Amino acid sequence: MKWVRPQINNLHPYIPGKQVTGKVVKLNANENPYPPSLGAIAVLSEINTDNLRLYPDAIAVNLRKVAANIFDVDDDQIVIGNGSDDVLTMIIRTFLDVGDSISVVDPTYTLYETLAEIQGARTEIYPLNNDYSLPDSFFQTECKVIFLPNPNAQTGTLFPTEQIERLCGNNNSVVVIDEAYTDFSGVSSIPLIKKYDNLIVLRTVSKSYSLAGIRVGFGISNKNFISAMMKVKDSYNVNAVSQLIAAEAIIDRKQFNWNIGKIIETREWFSKSLSDLGWKVTPSAANFILVEPVKDSPEAVKEKLEAAGILIRHFNTPRLKNKLRISIGTDEQMKNLLKVIT
Ligand SMILES: Cc1ncc(COP(=O)(O)O)c(C=O)c1O
Repeated sequence: MKWVRPQINNLHPYIPGKQVTGKVVKLNANENPYPPSLGAIAVLSEINTDNLRLYPDAIAVNLRKVAANIFDVDDDQIVIGNGSDDVLTMIIRTFLDVGDSISVVDPTYTLYETLAEIQGARTEIYPLNNDYSLPDSFFQTECKVIFLPNPNAQTGTLFPTEQIERLCGNNNSVVVIDEAYTDFSGVSSIPLIKKYDNLIVLRTVSKSYSLAGIRVGFGISNKNFISAMMKVKDSYNVNAVSQLIAAEAIIDRKQFNWNIGKIIETREWFSKSLSDLGWKVTPSAANFILVEPVKDSPEAVKEKLEAAGILIRHFNTPRLKNKLRISIGTDEQMKNLLKVIT
């Protein structure tokens, strides 16, 4: 189309997991099967609807304060996004000019590359080792921004903190550690922000707080990076209702701890059950597992499960085409899945 920028004409857009309603079990988008904090849900019935005439707080003062307390940083070290995807967009806008480059691993979350492409930036891809650990070359990368999820998206692999430190200390790049799944691992790079002034850590309420639908994410870094990112964000990027719900949800440590404990417990027995069947299971520190079926092809397994009303994810890319990614649901959902495949 002649009116559209060439970058957009040629863009490979990010493809999210299929969203369907009705009687299906969704284990295809790493959503959480359990309800969010009751306090967070109660916010909905207590909202003064007259206030919805007004714009939301553009810089989410209260939510930042609450989040700063949880993440043990200062308020001005946090920016709130419309999901952590929105914080990724802020990072791209803040740090990348046309022609600059980002570095990512493969496999990983593909939105980094898509956003860079929209900005006219290049992506250097570093294939992970066969066991999905980081290749040595990744530590020598020269680029403007490094994007690395920890645990990694699609594989669930947790990279050791020493390696994150090596990435931050080794080069002149901005290092973005995307911790969308880290609550299921118990490890975080947030404490490293004091030590490295090129580090940004991302968090979200989408996974461990069961609130993917409200779209709230956090960018955590040094004050200078955060104030630069605040300049480029959309003016009222997080709606008023989501700000209120997210603040209540992250305060509720009891529900959070229960949720995390339960998902980890289910992940561990479910991984073992699949290993016992002979499937190859990549050790996961997230709320999903990456597996290789033993007899049937991944496509056949996916179709069989779909026919039984269970959705899982298959990525048709060279490194992942033999694999399936299964989000961790309730014990009952995982038991039903096992029944279908055995
Ligand atoms: C690694 C990673 N980062 C970010 C996101 C998006 O998170 P949010 O819902 O906060 O935009 C996802 C979603 O699946 C993800 O896998």
